[in-house]
Formats: sequence, structure tokens, C-alpha cells
Amino acid sequence: TSAQIGVTGLAVMGRNLARNFARNGYTVAVHNRTVARTRELVERFGDEGDFVAAETAEEFVAALERPRRLVIMVKAGDPTDAVIKEFAPLLEPGDMIIDGGNAHFADTRRRERELREQGIHFVGTGISGGEEGALHGPSIMPGGSKESYASLGPMLEKISAKAKDGSPCVTHVGPDGAGHFVKMVHNGIEYADMQLIGEAYQLLRDVAGYSPAQIADIFRTWNTGRLDSYLIEITAEVLSHVDAATGEPFVDVVTDQAEQKGTGRWTVQIALDLGVPVSGIAEAVFARSLSGHAALREASRHLAGPRPSPLGEQEAAAFADRVEQALYASKIVSYTQGFHEIAAGSEEYGWGIDQGAVSAIWRAGCIIRAAFLDRIRAAYAGRPDLPSLLSDETFAREIEAAQDDWREVLAAAVRQGVPTPGFAAALAYYDGLRAPRLPAALTQGQRDFFGAHTYRRVDREGTFHTLWGGDRSEVQA
Ligand code: 6PG
Repeated sequence: TSAQIGVTGLAVMGRNLARNFARNGYTVAVHNRTVARTRELVERFGDEGDFVAAETAEEFVAALERPRRLVIMVKAGDPTDAVIKEFAPLLEPGDMIIDGGNAHFADTRRRERELREQGIHFVGTGISGGEEGALHGPSIMPGGSKESYASLGPMLEKISAKAKDGSPCVTHVGPDGAGHFVKMVHNGIEYADMQLIGEAYQLLRDVAGYSPAQIADIFRTWNTGRLDSYLIEITAEVLSHVDAATGEPFVDVVTDQAEQKGTGRWTVQIALDLGVPVSGIAEAVFARSLSGHAALREASRHLAGPRPSPLGEQEAAAFADRVEQALYASKIVSYTQGFHEIAAGSEEYGWGIDQGAVSAIWRAGCIIRAAFLDRIRAAYAGRPDLPSLLSDETFAREIEAAQDDWREVLAAAVRQGVPTPGFAAALAYYDGLRAPRLPAALTQGQRDFFGAHTYRRVDREGTFHTLWGGDRSEVQA
């Protein structure tokens, strides 16, 4: 029997992806460096479909129909290069290597270029949805060549999540590293969503005075409205969970130091290179790193500041409604920033990414899946060249409507000393874009003063310099 697809790297993501292909009727060759894992998969899940267990790389490659489709599900970085090095010599022109890990898109570009010389299609593919998604239907973001998508697309469409309207959550994002780039930004947005939800929780707890269980109920209510999303749903689950050992709310017994594997950080690093303001995403990454500086936090714990004094019942309920507005408005800003970065990356690398298609494939399967994404899809459908989500009338009107409450929530946070870097950065971005004049004019003046860096004028063409050290007359530069 020849397998239509092969998966090497059978940790939980790879294993579940292999099972997903098999459950959808494909014959799947499976391979793992440690053979025991391959055997275990076939023993436990062999009745779910047709698996071909391969013990060696040669066996694995021989089991695949041609052109071969070989999915690698190993750790990003060196392990991925090692696997490519092992398999590439065994492949032939036209074969495809699909990297389903969270690779950096620059690595994907390099690998694609190197393998192209050998006639092999390297398909860097973002896959989102965690273990469950891999098994039941993830959101899939493949890059690579058009030819590879023609061969691979139908299979990916079959195993992917489906949006409410039935469309598969996969699209050919663009050439070489486009898929991994979009997955990176997905994760940056994921970080921002999580940070904003965290801030909402902290405000509801400290300013409104609600218990975790009460906050879980508030999130459940929000989840029936415009914030309807996977992350809000699981937040309610986490907050209502009680620790068996202590009987305390689970959220109170977990160390408050957030970890990260790197994709959020990359989103910000690349945004800096592209000159795209992703302040909300950046604050989410920094909030995680601040939380992790245990010694610094310990040393600073005696620093003075207000202690929040919880509100009465009625004010608390009104405040919770305001927090929903602040969260929603800040969410619009994070997505605006994320989509801006995708547009800038697409421009820089000539990927031709269709933003509407990206929002469409994030509607289901991935971690940031949400009702909201169908609205973003609709915004791009109405106007494919939308310069920014904030240029969309519906979003603009919503954020305008939210802004009084947004400001109130931030004022309360500042007065009571609750850190809300995500909400604050989002509002500053909004106000920055709205401002008729920015102090950037002063910045230009300062630069011209100390370094003769020149400036442009509002009333005349040209580049100018003022003789600051002399008679302060202006010269054309
Ligand atoms: C997904 C997730 C996933 C990511 C985790 C952990 O889309 O399924 O984004 O790819 O690895 O969310 O990320 P951090 O460890 O950086 O929080």
C-alpha cells in the first residue's frame, strides 16, 4: 500500500494530525525517531484508519505515493533542520516537505530556497488549535508554491476546521514563508487577546471586587455577545475551576509568572523591523516578561501606591459593563495592529496575502477563533484594500461608542493602581491615530537642533534646517 501522506515526529501534535488524516480516509505513513512511539500510535489508534508504520527514514519515504507529501512535526529550529537533512537526500523533484511546526518565517524562507534548488517543494505551514485542533480540525496556514497547494490543498481542506458557513479553515496564504509569518502574527494576536482578558479579570477582581467564580459567570455572559470566542470560553472554565488540594480557586494557586515559547516575541521583533506599531501586542509580550522577573518584583513589593477598594454591588455591575466595552475596543486595536503587520510583511516580501482570506480561516479551529473574525472577513469583503480595520465604518462606530467607558475603566485602573498596559496601549494607539497634531513635530525640531537632521514644513515643499547655533535663520537643506 502506498500512503498519500506521511507524518514524522509523533509527539502529541504530530500524532493527532496523523490520526486526523487517517480518520478522514487517507492512508498515513507514520515515523518517529524513537520507534516505540510509532508502534504505540498504531497499537492504540490503528483502528481509526489506515496507518503504515515505518521504522526507518528509508521505509518511510518508500511508503509514500509520488509526488511524496511528508509532514514534519518536530520542534522549531535545529531539530527541523536535522529532519530536513535526513529526508531531503531520499526525495525526488516534485516531492513536498510540509513543516507544521511554529518555525520562524525567515528560517522557512531559507529552507524553501535551499530545497527548491533540489526541486523539492518546502511548504512552511502554520497550524493552530493545539492538540484538540490537530485531531478534530485545526486552522491551517500553508505557504510555499502554488503547485504544492494544488496537490496538498484538498487534503488540508478535508482535515481542517470548518467555519459556520461550512468553508474550510485553510487557504494558500502565499509563497515561501507567508504561512509561518501569518501564524506568527496569529500568535502575537493570541498574546494580546490573553493579556487583555487578563486585565479585564484583574479589574473585575480588584476594582469591582468579584470572586473568580463570579468573574467566570461574567465571562460566560460576555461569551454570548460580541466577545464570543474560544479564549473567553476557556477563561470562564479556568476561573471557575477549584483546586482539589486546597479548595482554593485554581487561579490563586498558580504561580503568576507567564511563560512563552517565542512566537509573540517574534511578532514584535519583526514589527520593529517593518516599522509597524504593534504596541498592544508588544505590551502583552512585555507583561509576560515582567511577570517572570520574580526577584525584581519581590524587591519592588514595598513600593507605595494605592490599594484598590472594591465597589458596591450596583457600581460593580455597571463597572463590569464598562470593562466589556474597554476589552472589546482594545481587541479591535490589537487586530488592527496584527493585520497591519500582515499587510506590511506581505508588501515587504511580495507575498500578495489576502487579508480577508486570513480572517476567514481564523474563524474556526485556531486559538483566536471568534465570532469577531467573521466581522473582519466581512469588512475586507466589503473593501479588499481596506487600509486599516479602523477605516471600516462598523468597527470605527463601535470603537467610538465604546470609548467613554474605555476611558473610565482606564481612569479607574490608574487611580487604583491596577496595571493595564494592554488597555492603555490600545487607547493611546487610538488617540494617536485620531490626533490632528502629534508631538512628532517637536521631535523633529529637537533632532534638527542637536544633529541638523532637518525637517519638512507643513506649508512648503522641501527639506529645511534651522541654524540653531547661529542666528536661527532657516536654510533649505
Ligand atoms: C496555536 C498556539 C500554539 C502555541 C501555544 C503556546 O495556535 O495552537 O498558538 O501554536 O505554541 O499557544 O505559545 P506560548 O508558549 O508562546 O504561549
